[in-house]
Amino acid sequence: MRGKSVLLIIGGGIAAYKSLELIRALKTRGCGVHAILTQAGTEFVTPLSVASLSGEKVFTDLFSLTDESEMGHIELSRSADLLVVAPATADLMAKLAGGLANDLASTALLATDKPVLMAPAMNVRMWNHPATQRNLAALKKDGVLFVGPNDGEMACGEFGPGRMAEPAEIAAAIEKYFASGGRLNGLRALVTAGPTQEPIDPVRFIANRSSGKQGYAIADALARAGAETTLVSGPVDIAAPTSVRLLKVTTAREMLAACESALPADVAVMTAAVADWRPEVALNSKIKKDAGAKAPAIQMAENPDILATLARHAQRPGLLIGFAAETENVVAYAQAKLKKKGCDWIVANDVSPATGVMGGDRNTVHIVTAGGVEDWPEMQKSEVGTRLAARIADAVRGKAA
Ligand code: C5P
Repeated sequence: MRGKSVLLIIGGGIAAYKSLELIRALKTRGCGVHAILTQAGTEFVTPLSVASLSGEKVFTDLFSLTDESEMGHIELSRSADLLVVAPATADLMAKLAGGLANDLASTALLATDKPVLMAPAMNVRMWNHPATQRNLAALKKDGVLFVGPNDGEMACGEFGPGRMAEPAEIAAAIEKYFASGGRLNGLRALVTAGPTQEPIDPVRFIANRSSGKQGYAIADALARAGAETTLVSGPVDIAAPTSVRLLKVTTAREMLAACESALPADVAVMTAAVADWRPEVALNSKIKKDAGAKAPAIQMAENPDILATLARHAQRPGLLIGFAAETENVVAYAQAKLKKKGCDWIVANDVSPATGVMGGDRNTVHIVTAGGVEDWPEMQKSEVGTRLAARIADAVRGKAA
């Protein structure tokens, strides 16, 4: 983070005291910090504490003529590499989602041309309120990044999501953002993840063992690199990365429709384990097990191939990446798949039960392109995501970018 600078907006919440720790964490890592304290923020921490820790003048009032003549709010919001809002109160989220600019903090947020990372902190009911959730969805759609909130006991005595992420977590998210260089800023990414479920009747379905972990990690990494990311996910048990737009689907056909609704995209990474077939008819009532009756035969129909469909699409993603989960001849099958599907890269991995890849946290992948094969060592799925996002940035921005 050395040489980078953050404009930290401290909103009015009890978690504001943790922002002092965040300033220290950033300064220790060599990152410069300018701070804006909202009016409400000054009720929780003093400008003097913030100035002492940041080593910089603290901005508090939009209409201070001296501040404006030294550094106007527009320049202030653009001279940083990243804007961080911590704590991001329900009010600050609502203001930015609605485009309001009636104080220095909200004006800086609206005037900036830099990415914004928010660390929400509020009472659990405020966080769960449909209005806040609407604002969250709108902000994510606009490309705002999020860290937290975490679950836990809150200052108000209630329990649940709403606790601000810890300063170390926020600093790590900022570090991750800078490590990715924000190189995918302004680009749109689409990721599919998880299995699909194909109904037999209202209570039964056909699915597979995909956990969605790899796809979620890729979506997270693309979003952290600055891409406006849509994650189309089948039913999985993991929490969505906070900075992506999540479209939850059940069947392959729903997944295809959701993907098409997310076009155009500069990059698409299809990690979902889409069911190749579905029961031709999904019955409206449960199949009964009548004594002595024959076991029912299920007639199957082929599902659309989402990857191949996007490859032929009028709005074909600029860089289209498929996955190949194989149990043998991994690279050879991937090379054949590259041609068959009409995509640009195939990320191939061995999912034989002995590898523990399905459902596990680690993966060993091979990047297969028309130009050759890159064998990556075994690493965490999150690391595969980060490295793939960097590799994608190399491809779309050029190595030197
Ligand atoms: O043909 P196979 O299922 O091995 O291909 C894997 C790749 O194709 C993955 O990227 C997967 O997400 C994608 N796929 C798809 N739609 C299907 C089947 C696979 O998008 N119906």
